This record gives sequence, C-alpha cells and structure tokens, in this order.
Amino acid sequence: MFGHERIEYKSRDQIVLMRQAGLVVADVLAAVRAAIEPGVTTGELDKIGADVIATAGATSNFLGYHGYPATLCISVNDEIVHGIPGGRMIKPGDVVSVDGGAIVDGWHGDSAFSMVVPPVDAADAALVAACEDALWAGIAALAGAVRLGEVGAAVEDAVAKAGSYAIVREYVGHGIGSAMHQAPEVRNFRTRDRGPRIVPGLCVAIEPMITLGDRHTKIQDDDWTVVTVDASRAAHWEHTVAVLEDGILVLTALDGGAAKLAERGVRVAALRD
Ligand code: MF3
Ligand code: CO
Repeated sequence: MFGHERIEYKSRDQIVLMRQAGLVVADVLAAVRAAIEPGVTTGELDKIGADVIATAGATSNFLGYHGYPATLCISVNDEIVHGIPGGRMIKPGDVVSVDGGAIVDGWHGDSAFSMVVPPVDAADAALVAACEDALWAGIAALAGAVRLGEVGAAVEDAVAKAGSYAIVREYVGHGIGSAMHQAPEVRNFRTRDRGPRIVPGLCVAIEPMITLGDRHTKIQDDDWTVVTVDASRAAHWEHTVAVLEDGILVLTALDGGAAKLAERGVRVAALRD
C-alpha cells in the first residue's frame, strides 16, 4: 500500500500541532461514546462528532476522503470498519466501533474505540477488551522497538494470548501527519519485513481489528462498509502515536497514554517542558 513511499518525519513543533488534532479527536470520541445508547441512530452520533470538531475550529479528515460521506465511521456487530452513519438505530447488546479523525492547522489525528451496549454479552466484552489490550501492547512495543515490525508482532502475540480471535489482515495501521494515510504500513501481525527503524519524528496510527470468527472480510454494496464474511462480530481500536527524543506520546489519548502505558512499565514523553 504505502510500501515504497517515503516517510514524513515530524519536528517537535509539528508534533505539537498533531497533539492538538489528537486532543480534538479524543473529545470527539468521548462525546460520541457518552451518547451511545439504544435508540440513538448512527447518523445522530455522526452529528455529535461533527459538532465537536466544528466547535474546536478543526476540520474532518474523513468527510470527502475518496468521497466518504460522513465525519465518523460507525461499524456495528459484524461490521469491522468504515460503516457509514445513517438511519441505523443502536440496539441493546450491539458491539459499536467508532472511528474518528480531525485536522488542526493541516495536521491529522485518527483514533477509534469499540464498546458493547448493555446488556453486555461476555464474549463480546472479551472481544472488545482483547482488541484494546492488543492496541496498548502494540503501543508499548513501539516505545522499546528498534523496528516497526515489532509492533505487529506484539499485537499478534497479545491477541493470541487473549483467546481464540482472528486478526484482520486486509486493513492495517499507517503513518500519519500532514495527511491521514501515509507510509509506513503498520501491520497487526508478524511478517518477514522488519519494517523501518523507529526514530524521533515517526508518527503512526496503530489500529488492530479482530473478530470472534475468521479473519476474512468483504465490502458491502455501499462500497465502504467492511464486514466479516462469516458474520462474526468484530472490534477495532486505534490511536495516533508520536515518537519523540525522550519516548513516545499517544496523541489521541487525553493523558497521552500515561495510565495505560504505566501498567506496562512505559513512561510517556513530555511534549513541552
Ligand atoms: N480512519 C480510518 C483509518 O483508521 C480511515 C477512515 S476512511 C474514511 O485509517 F474514508 F472514512 F475516512
Ligand atoms: Co487509521
């Protein structure tokens, strides 16, 4: 996908702007999460996200992207990613994945979470937790890695340890900066390619997608929504992460990832001192 493009390494000042975009994305996702309940439509949730972006003075990187018609991607149950918000009503027991992004001064943020609407099925809750854990395992690996391939290996190992889940392979994470999707690819599994070196200025979106069934996907007739072929439920978590001289910072987490990474013995970098 981005294999032969060059990587855009960011200056500290550029990462400060990406942090602003990341904080807008964090606010968007927090507002949408708080509004998820039975009866709300995915279109109404999209509007909530768009309003937070507008109030922040930011813009959406999804809206109009290759003709994408909304601000968020909201993917329910067997939908993995790129679900288009509209008239669909959230129901009790749904697995809801929300992906959002924002641009501030030309710099991009991108993040996603999944959640289960009560009453919570134990297998669905475990699926969502395993995906979130795999994301943080990947982020923690980035902090100590020499090459980017170590992130995918850590994600794969975390998923395997969590249970019997499949990792989606057709969609991967990506570099991010002055565009939403840049080199390098960030895979969620081990490959022969060890990937580029981890150096200050590298900014990536890490985004594991896992399912309760097998890993195969297809695209719905709307040309966007990616679903599991076997109709099994899926989860998707994502953060935008920067590599700085003194460590990593999770740009789309309100606390920069401090709490989740402390559990893994990783201290986050300070952007300004
Ligand atoms: N944000 C998604 C990703 O994680 C891509 C969204 S595609 C769009 O890479 F068309 F909806 F913008
Ligand atoms: Co992304």
